[in-house]
Amino acid sequence: MEAMAGKSAQDEQTRLKQKAAERALELVEPGMTVGLGSGSTATLWIKLLGEKVRSQGLKIRAIASSDDSEKLGRSYGIPFTNFDEVSSLDLTVDGADEVAPGLALIKGGGGKLLREKIVASASKRFVIVADGSKQVEKLGKFPLPVEVIQMAEPLVSRELRELGFTPTIRTNQDGSRYITDEGNLILDCSGMLIDDPRALAAKLDAIVGVVEHGLFLGMAKMALIAEEGGLVERTT
Ligand code: A5P
Repeated sequence: MEAMAGKSAQDEQTRLKQKAAERALELVEPGMTVGLGSGSTATLWIKLLGEKVRSQGLKIRAIASSDDSEKLGRSYGIPFTNFDEVSSLDLTVDGADEVAPGLALIKGGGGKLLREKIVASASKRFVIVADGSKQVEKLGKFPLPVEVIQMAEPLVSRELRELGFTPTIRTNQDGSRYITDEGNLILDCSGMLIDDPRALAAKLDAIVGVVEHGLFLGMAKMALIAEEGGLVERTT
């Protein structure tokens, strides 16, 4: 009984994610260079986009924020480019783990935060797709992912503890350490709601050995949030 309730809640969440992805598809115009996000919501969007490329011949070029998203895009015949060929992207659509006021975000639940941030930073328009459960008043209930160089992990963990976090090295299901597409570790930092995301981001940026963190501030221009009552478009 409980398992069935859990499944239907999950189905409902997927339906909402799909709604947000469908709305984001309307933002794509022929000729655009497009950034492909990562995670379950971005995956729904990539599938819709890929279908449009495959069946309607939509002409776009893409850069993906993860190997998985690139593989998925290629399976639909989406043509890929790179930052040698283009210096910016017209539009990037990606998911988020938390969306706070001002469209301050936590991302990286799927471990792709480094490339996600690179792609987002090169985008003229960075749009978030999510279901309503991602909205929060304050960031930090979702553990903040911090990507670190492997040899620096003990040093970085110590500094993160001094900031008030409880860092945990992310692992795979078999217990082995999760390694990012760029060969680094992820520390999931829990135990603290974030009062001042900008100040915290500056402190994290200053720790040697931190490659990137999941605070995405001042980057998203729009969030398409699908809720029971309909789709909400939040802008900054
Ligand atoms: C991937 O590293 C993340 O930043 C995802 O965008 C984020 O975890 C949201 O994923 P879902 O769309 O699966 O909730």
